Amino acid sequence: MTSYTLSPEGITPWGVTTPSLAAWRKGRPMTDTATQVEEAAAAAEFQLLVTPEGRADPYRHYDTLREMAPIHRSVLANGWLLTRYADCHAVLRDPRMVRGFVPAMDARFPDWRDHLAIARSERSMLNLDGPDHVRLRKLVVKTFTPRSVEQLRPRMEVFVDELLEPLAASGGGDIMEALAFPLPVRVIGELLGIPEQDQAPFRSLVQKLTAIFEITATPEMLKDADGAQRESDAYFSDLIDTKRARPGNDLLSRLLTTEDSDGRLTSGELRTLAQLLFAAGFETTTNLVGNAMLGLLAHPEQMDILRARPELYSTLPNELLRYDGTVQVVGRCAAEPVEVDGVVFEAGDLVFPIVGAGNRDPAMYDNPHALDVTRQDVRPLTFGGGLHFCIGAALAKAETEIVFRKLLERFGTIELVGEAPYRDRLTLRGPSVVPVALAAHRTAPSPRRSTASTLRAVPPAHLADEPVVASAQKTPHRPSPAPDVMPVRPAVDDSTWRTEYRTRLEQTPGTVGGDVASVAALLGRVPFFAGCGPAELDDLAATAYPIAFETDETLCVEGAESLECYVIAEGEAAVLIGGDEIATVGADDVVGERGPLLGALRTATVVARSHMLTYAVSRDRLQRLVNESASARASMEKVLGRRFGTSPAPP
Ligand code: HEM
Repeated sequence: MTSYTLSPEGITPWGVTTPSLAAWRKGRPMTDTATQVEEAAAAAEFQLLVTPEGRADPYRHYDTLREMAPIHRSVLANGWLLTRYADCHAVLRDPRMVRGFVPAMDARFPDWRDHLAIARSERSMLNLDGPDHVRLRKLVVKTFTPRSVEQLRPRMEVFVDELLEPLAASGGGDIMEALAFPLPVRVIGELLGIPEQDQAPFRSLVQKLTAIFEITATPEMLKDADGAQRESDAYFSDLIDTKRARPGNDLLSRLLTTEDSDGRLTSGELRTLAQLLFAAGFETTTNLVGNAMLGLLAHPEQMDILRARPELYSTLPNELLRYDGTVQVVGRCAAEPVEVDGVVFEAGDLVFPIVGAGNRDPAMYDNPHALDVTRQDVRPLTFGGGLHFCIGAALAKAETEIVFRKLLERFGTIELVGEAPYRDRLTLRGPSVVPVALAAHRTAPSPRRSTASTLRAVPPAHLADEPVVASAQKTPHRPSPAPDVMPVRPAVDDSTWRTEYRTRLEQTPGTVGGDVASVAALLGRVPFFAGCGPAELDDLAATAYPIAFETDETLCVEGAESLECYVIAEGEAAVLIGGDEIATVGADDVVGERGPLLGALRTATVVARSHMLTYAVSRDRLQRLVNESASARASMEKVLGRRFGTSPAPP
């Protein structure tokens, strides 16, 4: 574990002033290799979290961290920094790695309740855990499925064509101002029902608001964020009143009906949800377009490849997200001890998967610092993962694909004609301006201006002023894992892990999925459990836990034994028997239940067809319930009969 102290005036938990690295390192002896490894990792961390230069070009510091201390205990972040792809991915997938907003904020910004921008975000979907989180996602997720996004495609193409006109007429301009901001803000604005004339001020407002995501946000940044929050609150309160009086054909108006019909979505929740969707819907994509444009300008040969091989546009967004994604860091909090490669995160520990580092892990991708549009099977971590996986992933990818296809098809020459500095942010990375010259037909390339600080494609391996250590010690200092700590959920074939976790939960009930009452309420809304009484639902909820599956992941395998079934909250899966697809299941269906009900092994294989969010429920408890409760059994038989035309045999 890296340990160092910083002078009191240097760093506070809620803000950072920047002592020089040399001053900070003064008097720190470098004795042996282990110390040097720790020093190198700590220096890289310092660069990333404290210095604007480090944040502007973070990838070489990520490399140092990954080489020296891939699971690094950070004093500055008050948590663990992860830089390997596999570790980031595993942590994002593990249901025990929750958001834990309150403990996380208590650790990072002790006075967070005094900051409106942070306090408001406590009830944001992004920061909730358990059924409250699931409930909010369910309300909006359908608007952003790949199928829904496909329907928006023609409209997005028109938008892009319209935005390219003035750029073509003037022979170029600032890509951020002319394209990267107006496209996604118009798309999400139209979906939500935010009038076009109101959208422009949100560009700077949201930039201020998102400062709260920075690990080392300064008091000034937080103050600005609070001011922006006040403005945004006032705007959205008025807008919601207007929609209530005159509903339109938009998501916000539809959500108002939801609020009215079951009284569950309060005005405050609706306002917070609308703000999140609007901000997340453009700020991230805006920056991705900016990062991607800079990446392509630094690799002009990749633009030629794309023009020559247009079939690559469909996979381009994944490579752009991998190469220089908008979101670089995601946060989680361990709800119980979790072991990752020999290191134990204790309950309450903050963990920061640096997804921007994972995306450039050489163990995952050859030549990871190169932008390579021909790369296949790219799985960027940039949309996070697990239960909080980005709702707008399909939309963002479609927007990015359309932007670059149209840009490259229309302009034979695209050149950077000035500085394109990155904003001083680590978590949400993006440039403030990207000035380009555009020409419809290829002309002889003019000498490219020096843009070394922003366009370095292959960064050097080490920081000049960081200690260079002969050989990296991959595992600097690892406490031995306690024998009873379960390892992190594996990325491939986690069925054994799920069985073990279920066994533990049944022995020691205590769900990470929220309090029992709210999980029981969530299950009670699913038709399959309609016949269950409150005590019966509580019994199921006592050991239920939320778990996400990625596309093509297997929930159940025909003929296998399994100790749980899955209540689908979000996403779709294919049900296969003997290799034939016999049904598609989706929200509010239960899968993996027939085997337990029949007292048999699994009767079907179930494969995720999209990102899925489910609640895992104990098979033994389900069997007990069906044996003891006639009404529970009746509701289950009814649902099964409807779905398969059969019902389970008597137990
Ligand atoms: C390049 C574009 C985008 C990037 C890089 C991005 C990235 C992310 C990330 C990293 C998360 C958190 C995931 C986690 O903690 O595991 C997230 C969540 C979210 N994103 Fe995106 N996003 C993008 C575009 C969008 C768009 C277009 C929307 C529009 C609806 C959107 C809506 C959301 C919402 C609502 C959440 C919260 C989900 C939850 O907490 O359950 N995002 N996004």
